[in-house]
Amino acid sequence: MKIGVPKEIKNNENRVGMTPAGVFELTRKNHTVFVQKDAGFGSGFFDQDYKDVGAIILDTIEEVYAFSEMIVKVKEPIEKEYSLIKPHHVVFTYFHFASSEPLTKAMLKSKAVCIAYETVEDKDGSLPLLTPMSEVAGRMAIQQGAKYLEKPIKGRGVLLGGVPGVPPGKVLVLGAGTVGIQAAKMAAGLGAHVTIMDINMKQLRYVNDVMPNHVVTEFSSEYNIRKRIKDHDLIIGGVLIKGAKAPKLITKDMLKEMRPGTVIVDVAVDQGGCFETTKATTHEDPTYIIDDVVHYCVANMPGAVPYTSTLALTNVTLPYVLKLANLGWEDACKIDKTLEKGLNIVDGKIVYEEIAEAFNWSIEAM
Ligand SMILES: NC(=O)c1ccc[n+]([C@@H]2O[C@H](COP(=O)([O-])OP(=O)(O)OC[C@H]3O[C@@H](n4cnc5c(N)ncnc54)[C@H](O)[C@@H]3O)[C@@H](O)[C@H]2O)c1
Repeated sequence: MKIGVPKEIKNNENRVGMTPAGVFELTRKNHTVFVQKDAGFGSGFFDQDYKDVGAIILDTIEEVYAFSEMIVKVKEPIEKEYSLIKPHHVVFTYFHFASSEPLTKAMLKSKAVCIAYETVEDKDGSLPLLTPMSEVAGRMAIQQGAKYLEKPIKGRGVLLGGVPGVPPGKVLVLGAGTVGIQAAKMAAGLGAHVTIMDINMKQLRYVNDVMPNHVVTEFSSEYNIRKRIKDHDLIIGGVLIKGAKAPKLITKDMLKEMRPGTVIVDVAVDQGGCFETTKATTHEDPTYIIDDVVHYCVANMPGAVPYTSTLALTNVTLPYVLKLANLGWEDACKIDKTLEKGLNIVDGKIVYEEIAEAFNWSIEAM
């Protein structure tokens, strides 16, 4: 198969859909891989690295799309790319269709096969191509939170680990899923005192079993949250209710209960956020202050660490890319039910019900 890896053109996106290691696996199975010039540069991979494992470097994005049967990328196509996608293409990337009607209409019009990373789903309901990005964001939340707790950037001026003779900082983590566990682990590693809350007792039992003693679990309720926010320095929001907007666990009036300089990091911002005062920010201007509380609400946190994020993402996408290339999308999806869940649009029709529902379209009428 002919596989194309375009350079991402979305603002501030430095990840790339395939590493040289991925190209190596494909070329040794006699597939042809076209990589756009400088596609890997932002993630620390040079054109020569791709050439060394048999990729063909093309100058323009137009050539990559024109010569390829399958496109492997990271972010959803943006408007400039819509016209490059043709009926013979399989496009494997994050799409997040439900949040963009123009993108959905453009892909329906293209008649391409669109397989979305975010809906590839295991039998147990887990989303294997989303997990690594939650792992990155959870770990980053503490790194960013620790930085913004510093006084020159308007934080409380607290060192999370404390020092001998001075108690450590306190971190409250809301949600004990992928983001929450990774955040708690990082905070604990720095020596902070950590409280982690969830409504799922199974998750809390697991955390209680595996974390050190200075990570304390507590059931998530408004009462408990109100009690803890008064003396915690850093608060991480990492909750998710599948298919729904995040619940607002920290309301505007609660900010007044926090100490000035408290930092709150809403990782769940991409699902609407779990703090009432959350509004999405970017890496260029990641924070804002309300009632002396520093808010960090970057919607694509992994974008700031493209080297790690690209490796984490491609580790999990590559087995599916290989399957799609070796078998073709129809057989690959027939054999692999996890991958089949990723099918969102085929030949001008929506095949993933929730997308049609998001726009109140009837899937039968498609
Ligand atoms: N900002 C970013 O760059 C970025 C990156 C990756 C993921 N995310 C987002 O982070 C969020 C969390 O993702 P995840 O992979 O950890 O999800 P997850 O499903 O693994 O975990 C979510 C947890 O929230 C818990 N929860 C639900 N309601 C709760 C409540 N009222 N109180 C406390 N806990 C509650 C669930 O029981 C679950 O354990 C998602 O919205 C995801 O999209 C954001």
